[in-house]
Amino acid sequence: MARVAVIYGTTEGQTAAIAERIAGVLADAGHDPALLHGAHLPPGFEIEAYDGVVVGASVHVGRHQRYVTRFAREHAAALNGMPAAFFSVSLTAAAGTDEARETARGLLEEFLTETEWEPDATAVFPGALRYSEYGLLTRYAMRRIAKQYGEDTDTSRDYEYTDWDAVDRFATEFAGLLE
Ligand SMILES: Cc1cc2nc3c(=O)[nH]c(=O)nc-3n(C[C@H](O)[C@H](O)[C@H](O)COP(=O)(O)O)c2cc1C
Repeated sequence: MARVAVIYGTTEGQTAAIAERIAGVLADAGHDPALLHGAHLPPGFEIEAYDGVVVGASVHVGRHQRYVTRFAREHAAALNGMPAAFFSVSLTAAAGTDEARETARGLLEEFLTETEWEPDATAVFPGALRYSEYGLLTRYAMRRIAKQYGEDTDTSRDYEYTDWDAVDRFATEFAGLLE
């Protein structure tokens, strides 16, 4: 049984939900996951206390949460020496075109270059459009962006694009790396 830190950055909650799902799969595989918000790590957090780490963050205006970038950069040496995985959540990943997929992948690669971390596994997951939770300006900005990518523009409801089977596969493969 491996002790695994599942650390996430989230702004509207979708990456938190994905991290929770990953922690559930790891627990079902017999491991001991700790689900941790990257902006509120427990006092005395030490990466050495874990046998593996999964980090996730979402993209807002072309960047992942700064506190996650900072965490990965500060712990890159330790992360590079242990089983570790990174996943990126974005709307771009939800658009079905090759160009959008490349953009989403490019954002993930930028994160890895910036942090000097070379994880054993990476993934890009489509996120969600939570119009009901955005303020007026954000709602209209997101509607414009969604239109540009051919996604849903009815702001009277929310949309979730995450492929949960892909999340489960990613978590199961990572569980295998811990054995
Ligand atoms: C203000 C705002 C800016 C965003 N900017 C981007 C972006 O630049 N690229 C992108 O692919 N997705 C962008 N998104 C979409 C988010 O990545 C997506 O909604 C994701 O599910 C958010 O995850 P979270 O709920 O964990 O924060 C943006 C969303 C919001 C609300």
